[in-house]
Amino acid sequence: VFQRISDQGMPIVSVDNPLASLELSLFGGHVLSFMPKKDNRQRLWMSPKAVMDGSKPIRGGIPVCWPWFGAASDGNLPAHGFVRDQMWQILRVDDDQEQTRIQLQPERAYLNPGQEHLDLMLELLIGEQLTLNLITQNRQAHSIRFGGALHSYFRVQNIDHAEIQGLSGAYLDKVQDTSAEQTPSPYLISSETDRIHVNAVSQASIIEGEQQAVTIGFKGHDSIVVWNPWQEKSAQMADMTTDGYRKMLCIEAAITQGIELAPGQSHILTQIIS
Ligand code: BG6
Repeated sequence: VFQRISDQGMPIVSVDNPLASLELSLFGGHVLSFMPKKDNRQRLWMSPKAVMDGSKPIRGGIPVCWPWFGAASDGNLPAHGFVRDQMWQILRVDDDQEQTRIQLQPERAYLNPGQEHLDLMLELLIGEQLTLNLITQNRQAHSIRFGGALHSYFRVQNIDHAEIQGLSGAYLDKVQDTSAEQTPSPYLISSETDRIHVNAVSQASIIEGEQQAVTIGFKGHDSIVVWNPWQEKSAQMADMTTDGYRKMLCIEAAITQGIELAPGQSHILTQIIS
């Protein structure tokens, strides 16, 4: 495990152990890449135009969204919360034969600016698979309510041939602003897609041809978000290339409805990438 400063002046942590390699940006507590050694295949997608100088959230990898998912109820506050564009610090690193464990925390975690700080920690377990545990602890004397997501961008070879398996049931369609009763089967992406699957299953996969591109396990979530901006929306985004959307698919362990935490309780949102 070693730390370097990127060309844009941002601290990057690199992990290289017998089972995998990973890169983590301390800006955002943001995993940039994950490559298991059994096949040396990159699981995550990073936009070639991602801004990496700390001036805005990084487009690609695994942004941490907290303490809410999506647009803020107060339009002056940022989408996806406060932690994906602040500096995080490493609390602890443990290395053994099987995995490397890194625990980190953002500089400031609060529900709203000006309110008391909360305890938020991201734990990475890096081995043949990558486990992310986003741990929210309520040390306040009153209940808190929060949401969030592990907003993973997965790499696909060709979006036209990528199929999502494992999701089922009803979803909210944020593009059409409607709800649908049934997840499509086969589940292919051929236009702008922004969906909140409220059936919080515990596993989904992206399949490309015969190959299992990636399998994602979820815990502590209330929904699973599927997002691809497609062509027109990408063209409006300064940090997307013209055809970047053809190589990526976001599948996110999410808390979109909110979780109530009583004083003293903690909650873990988990995503396992294999
Ligand atoms: C997805 C949301 O999770 O993130 C989309 O469902 C949103 O609505 C997308 O557009 C990207 O958000 P941002 O803030 O990183 O551009």
